[in-house]
Amino acid sequence: MKFIRAIPAISRETKAARSSGHPVVLVPTMGNLHAGHLSLIRRARKLAGAKGTVVVTLFVNRIQFGPTEDFASYPRNLKRDTALCREAGVDILFAPSDAVIYPGAHSTYVVESRLAKRMEGASRPTHFRGVTTVVAKLFNLVQPDAAVFGAKDWQQAAVIRQMTTDLNFPIRIVVAPTVRERDGLALSSRNAYLSPAEREQATVLYDVIRAARLAVKHAPAPLPAGVLRRKLSRLVAKQRLAKLDYIEFFDPKTLEPAKRVERGTHIALAVFFGKTRLIDNGRL
Ligand code: PAF
Repeated sequence: MKFIRAIPAISRETKAARSSGHPVVLVPTMGNLHAGHLSLIRRARKLAGAKGTVVVTLFVNRIQFGPTEDFASYPRNLKRDTALCREAGVDILFAPSDAVIYPGAHSTYVVESRLAKRMEGASRPTHFRGVTTVVAKLFNLVQPDAAVFGAKDWQQAAVIRQMTTDLNFPIRIVVAPTVRERDGLALSSRNAYLSPAEREQATVLYDVIRAARLAVKHAPAPLPAGVLRRKLSRLVAKQRLAKLDYIEFFDPKTLEPAKRVERGTHIALAVFFGKTRLIDNGRL
């Protein structure tokens, strides 16, 4: 595995990989790798094939965190991540510093202005412009054939897909399924912030998705979104340490809000446990 920290080296190595004629597949991450990331890497390997190149990036992207969010405390573990990538058969690990990605006064942003406004975008107004800016930079540096993102960040994947189309990046966006703990909690680096009591109650996110699936399954007709939202909000309210940010129902392709919820509608939710904010989503 090649370990790279500088721009000229990542450009040179990925150019050589592309000229081999085999696919180059990118997995952008913020590090602190867990089983969810490893499943994205496995998917990338399948797409790249044995002769292709899997590129993983590790970069905690300051500009996608709000001023009161957890940029400073976000878990960083370069040594462990490097070992995990080597074990997982990654070909190139790109782990640039902040100064490499944002040298000097950075003043150019890539903004997706429709899908990025609701849900996560409403709660975290500068989040997606940070994500699209760094992902566009990584796309330019690596120029992969495909890039793999996790379904846990469903809206992020939709925003990135839109950006890819709008800016004519010739890159296939692949979304890999969410990996869950045995009790249903979606894997996330932020789970590490939870106290034991919060961790126990954090299963409520998946409970809400399951309850919504049941409600849709047994309803004789599409359910009014407001009625279902109120019912599911009560489930969250039962957990003393949980504070609901939002529950939304939407079309999984367009992210258009659904007034009526039926089979195939998508649900997404965000819940606070103290300062820790967890998200999840699923198809109903
Ligand atoms: O999903 C993430 O880990 C990040 O948002 C990403 C896509 C690596 C951009 O920083």
